[in-house]
Amino acid sequence: MTEKYKITLLPGDGIGPEIMAVTVEVLQLIGKQFELQFDFQSALIGGAAIEATREPLPEETLAICRQSDAVLLAAIGGYKWDNLPRQQRPETGLLGLRAGLGLFANLRPATILPQLVDASSLKPEVVEGVDLMVVRELTGGIYFGLPKGIFTTETGEKRGVNTMAYTEGEIDRIAKVGFETAQKRGGKLCSVDKANVLDVSGLWRDRLTLMASAYPDVELSHLYVDNAAMQLVRAPKQFDTIVTGNLFGDILSDVAAMLTGSIGMLPSASLGASGPGVFEPVHGSAPDIAGEDKANPLAMILSAAMMLRYGLNQPKASESIEQAILQVLQLGYRTGDIMSPGMTQLGCRAMGETLLKVIASQESNC
Ligand code: IPM
Ligand code: MG
Repeated sequence: MTEKYKITLLPGDGIGPEIMAVTVEVLQLIGKQFELQFDFQSALIGGAAIEATREPLPEETLAICRQSDAVLLAAIGGYKWDNLPRQQRPETGLLGLRAGLGLFANLRPATILPQLVDASSLKPEVVEGVDLMVVRELTGGIYFGLPKGIFTTETGEKRGVNTMAYTEGEIDRIAKVGFETAQKRGGKLCSVDKANVLDVSGLWRDRLTLMASAYPDVELSHLYVDNAAMQLVRAPKQFDTIVTGNLFGDILSDVAAMLTGSIGMLPSASLGASGPGVFEPVHGSAPDIAGEDKANPLAMILSAAMMLRYGLNQPKASESIEQAILQVLQLGYRTGDIMSPGMTQLGCRAMGETLLKVIASQESNC
């Protein structure tokens, strides 16, 4: 029987619409092969929404997302909107979406594909075999803590304030995702904090340590964030699953991304306790190459694969996309960001078409 899914598409800004168009074609073909019917509905977010409605996250967009089974988001932001007041910036729309859907858990895998070892700026022996997952808390910490803002002191000087705060409940629920993710992977969980300086991190470390007894099959370790950043580029293979707060996770997931050669390859999943998840590439809107058919659509397509696996419980369809991507790379096709000598460089659309051909041939092989 055909499964039907309502998918909200948020193409956003910059290269967003280009990579989304390619991804939708891939999903349509996969849908035919696996008897999945996708009912796609597009909505506005980020700069595109600001242009149309003056708001980065129109209420209608949030309502459409809430009624869907999963949300695919491409990228938001661009130079044009960088100087707007914070409330009207594209990034505020993205944070509003995360908060509005209660997406407190952000899964960011960084896996080195054997075909792309040379694309990394680190030595092959350092990165070969890296396969780690950053579990980032996404709706708390310094991104959302109060008080925040720019205030004027008694002496008339301006003072910028953000607050890093976590309640026990917020820590416990992301810790649970961390432990459970580690259980499904290599059984090692590294919690990253700054407990040598920050009180909020002291509480974070205490809760993680307390919860560890409920997961005897997981080996828990702790690292300070500065050391974690260093270890990630020094010896990344020591990591299996990392769990950390919002800001540290933002930074460390970019570091982890670069181990793999290009941030253009990395997907992410943002999940809540219930309701639809949001699946988006880790990279941004790349306004410098927007509209030039140069973008790498693979992180977006891998995000669609994560949607199938984590959001719609269709692991076979997910794997089929992942396998096809490996095969396209094996055949020597690359976009500019992961190009290396001897390979064939393709634009965004051509990469999509090549992938579609491989997926179509996978079907005739089964
Ligand atoms: C990310 C991005 C966002 C964040 C920005 C665009 C608000 O850097 O998803 O990592 O900081 O969370
Ligand atoms: Mg980031």
